[in-house]
Amino acid sequence: VFAHVVRAPEDPILGVTVAYNKDQSPLKLNLGVGAYRTEEGKPLVLNVVRKAEQLLVNDMSRVKEYLPIVGLADFNKLSARLILGADSPAIQENRITTVQCLSGTGSLRVGGEFLAKHYHERTIYIPQPTWGNHTKVFTLAGLIVKSYRYYDPATRGLNFQGLLEDLSSAPAGAIVLLHACAHNPTGVDPTLEQWEQIRQLVRSRELLPFFDSAYQGFASGSLDGDAQSVRRFAADGGECLIAQSYAKNMGLYGERVGALSIVCKNADVASKVESQLKLVIRPMYSNPPIHGASIVATILKDRDLFNEWTIELKEMADRIISMRHQLFESLRAKGTPGDWSHIIKQIGMFTFTGLNSEQVAFMTKEYHIYMTSDGRISMAGLSSRTVPHLTEAIHAAVTR
Ligand code: LMR
Repeated sequence: VFAHVVRAPEDPILGVTVAYNKDQSPLKLNLGVGAYRTEEGKPLVLNVVRKAEQLLVNDMSRVKEYLPIVGLADFNKLSARLILGADSPAIQENRITTVQCLSGTGSLRVGGEFLAKHYHERTIYIPQPTWGNHTKVFTLAGLIVKSYRYYDPATRGLNFQGLLEDLSSAPAGAIVLLHACAHNPTGVDPTLEQWEQIRQLVRSRELLPFFDSAYQGFASGSLDGDAQSVRRFAADGGECLIAQSYAKNMGLYGERVGALSIVCKNADVASKVESQLKLVIRPMYSNPPIHGASIVATILKDRDLFNEWTIELKEMADRIISMRHQLFESLRAKGTPGDWSHIIKQIGMFTFTGLNSEQVAFMTKEYHIYMTSDGRISMAGLSSRTVPHLTEAIHAAVTR
């Protein structure tokens, strides 16, 4: 009965890892998926995460009961505080609901399903380009996906004029997906002044902002700094949604830890919204897993562990920034044609190189370098040892 099923293509991002794993070459380098690697090219479990896990293991009072549908209460409260700041008016006025979800993707999906069911406008505008999964997540949630201009290939920077024009002509009430910081895949973020203009436009057009925050603290090394965009929207009295992921900033990729917050007009609305989120979650996966959220809550509620986390987070962010400088210098030293200054200007985990899909395919075939076909490279996968190899490959690709 399944003979008619056609083979689906691999995922454009996770499929890169599948291809990488099959490659036997000792030179192979995976710059596809956004996952942090050490200078030695190894995955990293933060010390603070190991410590929190040890505390959890030693606590014999812990059981494996189901969590509530909305997840771990402490985790939810602390997650809202982390993204909005402890002094956030939305938190103080209790007009926010936060539910634990399966990392960023799960948070976006639950938020999308809720909006499709309870919000009057079904159109969501996503940046062009954006993380490849956004379109699929929101389409399958029942929303209509359209895009707004974001990236300007000519300047390799923000197309701010295009963004403002497209959001100005979006129908009143439309949902707008915004990357809180470290835009994926471009690494191009608005300045704080531009964020303020976006906020004013969004509010005056009565658009509904939906933030995807997958890199808080991971972009600049400062948790507060990376949350500025979200905070100004949450503080102005209007509504917004926020999807948070702990995959990158705590290195909890496979634990699938995230949160969806919905900032509402008042506490009564927030509690009704939460009751409906439970109806979205229960038939989807009943309730979220306990382990990852317990790690996060343990770290967020203990001052020493929290401080230790911020230090480790900054180390990861700094190593990525140093990779940007090394790659830039290396291309310059080699005399590779082109202006590569965007490598040091872009923010966060990725560089949007400007290499086209043929050049990427060439680099994969000839140099065993794996990256997404849009020319995005994960700077977190690079090390001082592999910069020369990547430089050779880029040089060969652009001078062929
Ligand atoms: C990425 O963009 O590489 C990450 O967000 C991982 C993923 O799930 O796609």
